[in-house]
Amino acid sequence: MYKIPANTVFIGKNLISVPECHSTNVLAAQMSAKADVPEGTIIITDHQTAGKGQRGNVWVSEQHMNLTFSLVLRPHFLRAQDQFQLNIAIALGLADVLTRLVGESAVRIKWPNDLLINNKKVCGVLIENQIKGAVIVQSIVGIGLNVNQQTFSFAQASSLANELQTQLDLADVLNKLLEKLEVRYLQLRAGHIAEMHAAYTQQLYQRHEAHQFANDEGSFVGTIDGVDDAGRLRITRADGEQLFSIKEVRYLD
Ligand code: BTN
Repeated sequence: MYKIPANTVFIGKNLISVPECHSTNVLAAQMSAKADVPEGTIIITDHQTAGKGQRGNVWVSEQHMNLTFSLVLRPHFLRAQDQFQLNIAIALGLADVLTRLVGESAVRIKWPNDLLINNKKVCGVLIENQIKGAVIVQSIVGIGLNVNQQTFSFAQASSLANELQTQLDLADVLNKLLEKLEVRYLQLRAGHIAEMHAAYTQQLYQRHEAHQFANDEGSFVGTIDGVDDAGRLRITRADGEQLFSIKEVRYLD
């Protein structure tokens, strides 16, 4: 059902489709530990029985309705301390596709890399890096994009079909995603990070708006300014700007 994309150089040229698995991220890690899996390999399934989300959450996706896949990358050119740059490239690739479908004003990137349309989450990303010494030797980039699913157990979740009021062809959406992900990955590899960082900041959810957040000490009001080079969220509070890593802050609204 899924075809090798015609317009990419290496992403998706090796496309492994399985009817069901626990998690495409786990399967991709297992396969690449056992055999020589070429960079750009995609492992895709119609049904995950134990999909992994960020912060130890599960990722639930209705069978046959959405895209759930993992991409194997080997960004040896990235130092471990710069690993957030890959998050930026992936978020931008996804945002590029969503923007083409629904328009720029509807699409936001919710730090670190959730994709929202009309303030609802349509896509989640789980990047699992393998670091050796100072460099990233392998990244498994897991992507769950809600395409045709219509009902969700979370009010803040949605799909492309709900936001566009039309069903889409999964294989077409996948091909566009792979093309845009490759463009952004090659842009990263070519060292254009300043421009990518700026594009990411531009599309950041709740930027320059006062909102409620929570940390270990309780809730507070702050304004997102952007992210630093390490990927920490920069929030200005009454007492000045603070940096938060992923486990240190939660959005409350
Ligand atoms: C999140 O927003 O919490 C991240 C969700 C990532 C889900 C995708 S679906 C394909 C890949 N395999 C997994 O087990 N997880 C990722």
